[in-house]
Amino acid sequence: MGNGNEGNRKPWWILVGGRRRLGRALAETLAPEHNLVLTSSLSWKTEAPWITELSKQTQVRCLRWGAENPDMVPTMMADLAALGAAGISLNCAVLVSGTFPENPLGQWAPDNLDATWRLNLTFPLLVAQAVAPRLADGGCLQLLLDIAIHRPFLKRLPYSVAKAGLAALVPGLARMLAPRVRVVGHALGTVLPDPESDPVWLASRTLLQRNGTPEDLARALRFAADSPYLTGEILTLDGGTLLV
Ligand SMILES: NC(=O)c1ccc[n+]([C@@H]2O[C@H](COP(=O)([O-])OP(=O)(O)OC[C@H]3O[C@@H](n4cnc5c(N)ncnc54)[C@H](OP(=O)(O)O)[C@@H]3O)[C@@H](O)[C@H]2O)c1
Repeated sequence: MGNGNEGNRKPWWILVGGRRRLGRALAETLAPEHNLVLTSSLSWKTEAPWITELSKQTQVRCLRWGAENPDMVPTMMADLAALGAAGISLNCAVLVSGTFPENPLGQWAPDNLDATWRLNLTFPLLVAQAVAPRLADGGCLQLLLDIAIHRPFLKRLPYSVAKAGLAALVPGLARMLAPRVRVVGHALGTVLPDPESDPVWLASRTLLQRNGTPEDLARALRFAADSPYLTGEILTLDGGTLLV
């Protein structure tokens, strides 16, 4: 971006869903040691102030990848080819995008189930298919899951089912992509609480009596990226919630 960072030798990571909430917090946490490709389903124009700040620390590329885009697959392929042509070799891909809708039994309908599964399941599968061949040798594909894969949320069963599907992808893809690329999942407890939920109550439901932070997650992502003998596993990062 013409900011003096062009010559840096940092690894390139792509954060799919890197524009807001956890994705943005991860981008800001990882920027000191990583060059970043960030995707969003929306335009990046309104994000100029923080992207400009980020670009002072590292190289940043912003792409528009949306689960609703009927041309999503060719768009991703073309963008990844353009990154390759620009000499950018991706070392790690983190699939952040997701949606967390309440959808209790009795309200299930084809359209709301489709919407939940399109973003939480179809989109990550298509992203993984597009990105995996573009990862550098020894690269790592990381998926953000949820402890709902172990203890499904009753008001959010369609979400829990989608994340359980993604959990099955971790060992499956690990087998398909080995030995060149590793695949790791992260079953998260609360890291950034939903605006409607009570963070104090959520923290009280953990052994460690606190919610996670984006730094906690970034530490786990770095650990997975830097662990060449780790693949096909799902790490649980929940402050002990599953043990309460
Ligand atoms: N927050 C937590 O405590 C927590 C706990 C457990 C698991 N997780 C998992 O961690 C991930 C991030 O959590 P979050 O709380 O930041 O989730 P979020 O607020 O629901 O945001 C998820 C991301 O999805 C992207 N997105 C939304 N609509 C999209 C579309 N149509 N196409 C492509 N991308 C779209 C958003 O980016 P744009 O709007 O820019 O497209 C955003 O970056 C999710 O997979 C979630 O399940 C989070």
